[in-house]
Amino acid sequence: MNDPFLLIRNTAPPPNIAKVSALADLAGSFHRGLRSYAATPLRRLDRLAAELQLASVLLKDESHRFGLNAFKGLGASFAMHHWLATHDVPVDAVFTTATDGNHGRAVAWMARQLGYRAVIFMPGHSVPARIAAIQNEGAEVVLVDDGYDAAVRLALDAADNRGWIVIQDTATDRYREVPDWIGAGYWTMARELEPAVHAPEQPEVDVVLLHAGVGTWAGAMVQYYWHHYGAARPRIVVIEPTEAACLLQSVRVGQPTPATGSLHTIMAGLNCGYPSTDAFDVLRQSVDAFIAIPDIWAERAMRRLAMAQGDDPPVFAGESGGAGVAGLMALMQDPAYAAVRDHVALGRGSRVLAWCTEGVTDPEGWQRVVGRPIPA
Ligand SMILES: Cc1ncc(COP(=O)(O)O)c(C=O)c1O
Repeated sequence: MNDPFLLIRNTAPPPNIAKVSALADLAGSFHRGLRSYAATPLRRLDRLAAELQLASVLLKDESHRFGLNAFKGLGASFAMHHWLATHDVPVDAVFTTATDGNHGRAVAWMARQLGYRAVIFMPGHSVPARIAAIQNEGAEVVLVDDGYDAAVRLALDAADNRGWIVIQDTATDRYREVPDWIGAGYWTMARELEPAVHAPEQPEVDVVLLHAGVGTWAGAMVQYYWHHYGAARPRIVVIEPTEAACLLQSVRVGQPTPATGSLHTIMAGLNCGYPSTDAFDVLRQSVDAFIAIPDIWAERAMRRLAMAQGDDPPVFAGESGGAGVAGLMALMQDPAYAAVRDHVALGRGSRVLAWCTEGVTDPEGWQRVVGRPIPA
């Protein structure tokens, strides 16, 4: 059996940084102009850091971004705005995308604000709460039997066959521009940490944990770090679910390739069988390690974050949202990842940053894992 990790030596800067950085400037100004925009909080988890024998753990908490329970609104809103700024769009235009939940909700939310129709393709096994959240934004949901990757194909086909505007957060060989815009929108998350954590010369964190589905978000953060710090960047670990580790597998074989797992994981937002081709190009040589974690760590992280100890604030993280902390706990507590820990020098002196990218998007599932309903 393969190791549940891959170590990258001789890292190099990713492609496309200057272009995305310029777009990210536009995205930042656009976000600041939105009425519902506010920087999300940074939580200090000192007790968790002590338990894991680390110097500090910081958690950027996206669980309430734009009231959408996830960070995805940053990418979708800017991409849709930029599309409208660069195209003639008729008033009866239809925006479409495929989603495991969060990105589709963000597209539906923005379409409603802009006064356009949205049609969102979702895997047939999506939980009712995530489907309802998108319908509640006024969008039509189309369930697709074959899962996320088939939903992406259908959304792209709808553009070809019906002229709908696809705002998809994953790149393929024939669809590359919009995912760049979405990635540029995500830079706002990193920029909100300037100057305190992301100080001008050197970051105030040593190790950053980025979880990935298709990899667009992780790729955007990696471009940010290389752009700002070059070789002085923090060390970076990418985390995926064991059953949907398409990036780890792709980097292992040297080209975009399907995940070998079952695609059964509670981390629905990360349940992608095939990576974004552009995110693969960004991540393959520019991070220090990839790890795959089983669902048990996602569950432990959700419980640990919800039932905070000491002065740590409670954080109500969704299954995918808590994956950064889940990966950190696995790295520090499971001997299977000892080589990764050594490779990125994760230990008593380390200052660690993770993101909670999602709040509770499936209240029943959350209660099953955490053992109590979400507090009102
Ligand atoms: C909550 C959450 N976190 C992280 C991600 C990962 O983003 P990406 O698919 O760009 O890798 C997703 C994707 O849907 C998500 O929903």
